[in-house]
Amino acid sequence: MALHIRPLHDRFGAEIVGVDLRHVDDATFKEIESAWHRYSILLFRNVTWTPEQHVAFTRRLGPLHIMEPPEFNLAGHPEVLVVTNAEKDNKPVGIKRAGWGWHSDGEDKRLPNAGSFIHALELPPVDSDTMYADTYAAFATLPDDVRNRIMGRRACFSRARFHEVYYPHLGPLTEAQKAARPDVWHPIARKHPFSGWTSLYIGRWAYKIDGIDDTQAQELIDYLKDHATREDFVYRHKWRVGDALLWDNRCTQHCATPWDDAKYTRRMQRTTLEGEVPVMAERAVPRPDFAFAS
Ligand SMILES: [Fe+2]
Repeated sequence: MALHIRPLHDRFGAEIVGVDLRHVDDATFKEIESAWHRYSILLFRNVTWTPEQHVAFTRRLGPLHIMEPPEFNLAGHPEVLVVTNAEKDNKPVGIKRAGWGWHSDGEDKRLPNAGSFIHALELPPVDSDTMYADTYAAFATLPDDVRNRIMGRRACFSRARFHEVYYPHLGPLTEAQKAARPDVWHPIARKHPFSGWTSLYIGRWAYKIDGIDDTQAQELIDYLKDHATREDFVYRHKWRVGDALLWDNRCTQHCATPWDDAKYTRRMQRTTLEGEVPVMAERAVPRPDFAFAS
């Protein structure tokens, strides 16, 4: 059976129509997986699965990652991260204000997360869209001189340096947390392990580049971050309750947008796929819908 695929954007992102994620046979699963590798983000509407079914489906894509700290994970389901501003007995039941800034999940870890699959359970009536950026497109459209400058180089991603900038409401990291999350160096031109295509791998936790002095590196990082999230590379998702959205952190970035979290409740549950050590692209391989001018 060929999947019914409805594009979300000219270049990437697709809605998979008519699949019940609670009952997916192996042949359909393979088609979904291939579509994921082509489109980078997949949307499923009206999903009504249990946390067990959410976990079971995600596990077919690869090993799961248990998020830290554990108190934001669903009781009895450590593989499910709760993203919400809701509280119970004056205590948060999930992580609040997650992802308000362009990033890919786990970019500040030695093994960044391969993918994330979030399910919307409760939404504010307005706002709270999430934006997704196509970082294959970002790489493929870099000016030649910039592409040549980043090939073979790594950027440093630092949780310790930026934690209090991006998560001021969570309080500072303890020494033990800092020790568990040392700075990491990842290739800026990253080869996807399945497609072989090159993405631009940069994000909000990056601040240095090997072999380039820090001032110039910061200018280059700022340029790359702006380029990666250029408007024409971005799909803006307007959530509906029941949406389940699977994204590939190796070739997209995402950014939550503000909403009134003093007035409304938003509740989502996310599974997270374990990743691999990012692989340096030895040569530039654009996604085939792009062709280099030179
Ligand atoms: Fe995120």
